[in-house]
Amino acid sequence: MDKKLIAICGDAVRELRKLPDKSINLIVTDPPYNLNKNYGMNQDNLEFNEYLEFSREWLKEAYRVLSDNGSLYVFMGMKYISYVYSILEQEIGMHFNSWITWFYTQGIGKTKGFSPRHDDILLFTKHPTKFVFNLDDIRIPQKFYRSVNNMRGANPGNVWEFSHMHYCNKNRKKHPTQKPEALYERMILASSNEGETVLDPFLGSGTLLRVCQQTGRKGIGIDNNPEYIKMANERLSSPFTGFDSIDERMKRVPNDLNDAQIRIEYIQNHIKWFLANHPDAISEFIEEVKQKYGNKLIGSGQYTLVEQLNE
Ligand SMILES: C[S@@+](CC[C@H](N)C(=O)[O-])C[C@H]1O[C@@H](n2cnc3c(N)ncnc32)[C@H](O)[C@@H]1O
Repeated sequence: MDKKLIAICGDAVRELRKLPDKSINLIVTDPPYNLNKNYGMNQDNLEFNEYLEFSREWLKEAYRVLSDNGSLYVFMGMKYISYVYSILEQEIGMHFNSWITWFYTQGIGKTKGFSPRHDDILLFTKHPTKFVFNLDDIRIPQKFYRSVNNMRGANPGNVWEFSHMHYCNKNRKKHPTQKPEALYERMILASSNEGETVLDPFLGSGTLLRVCQQTGRKGIGIDNNPEYIKMANERLSSPFTGFDSIDERMKRVPNDLNDAQIRIEYIQNHIKWFLANHPDAISEFIEEVKQKYGNKLIGSGQYTLVEQLNE
């Protein structure tokens, strides 16, 4: 196995305690939400205060291992998110940066009440101003070409739409709460640099390590279920054809690309900027380009050039 990617089998708090102070640049993690999920080793149904104590314990260790300019992303369900927020801000002294809503269009249906359609992710930093945020690496395509628009792309905002990992997805593992890789891709690209170390103390099926592998980060994952550690290691040795999910906006072709030179330069850059980790989305993007600009591409002799970008 790649030594830069380590999957440790053990209890999160116990294993976190073995890591040196300030040795981690970024933590991205999706802990159990205490919703009675069956993860095999645990029942995920602690008493309310027990769950808060468990959260407090691992969050304190997470803070200790983070470097001075490090960041922490925590997924959390509705019931506990305000408590986790308060532990991070009031008890640990971290700095709030963003509350991200992961919006999904499908999920369980309620007959009395509104069907839940989001999970949330908190981003806190250790230092109030000195932390990594690579906006250029996570921009999304503009809707229109305008000379005043930054065509390198727009900030994706704090509502992110990705579908759940459905059982029909070819990357779906036997894990009850596997998350889409594109969620992790955005957090890791934004808040760490290549070669830095990213940690997930609740690794599950190995999503974080897979994304670290493909984005040139070192990764450490911890899970107390040996089956999931095996699953994560297997995932790392499988061939890569692109992340298993994508923000649909990454494929959008801006309107009004009327100048031939600007258009071709933009189309080439779009693939490099937005689809670098999504080779399987390039053909859809090229089709959209042909639909929008087909006649103009023929008129300017660029049609074949554009088709070749798909090869
Ligand atoms: C919500 S899942 C993570 C899913 C992961 N994000 C993915 O994409 O597959 C939480 C994981 O934490 C693990 N876990 C629960 N309690 C733990 C503990 N005390 N120490 C380490 N891992 C634990 C569970 O086995 C489960 O795989």
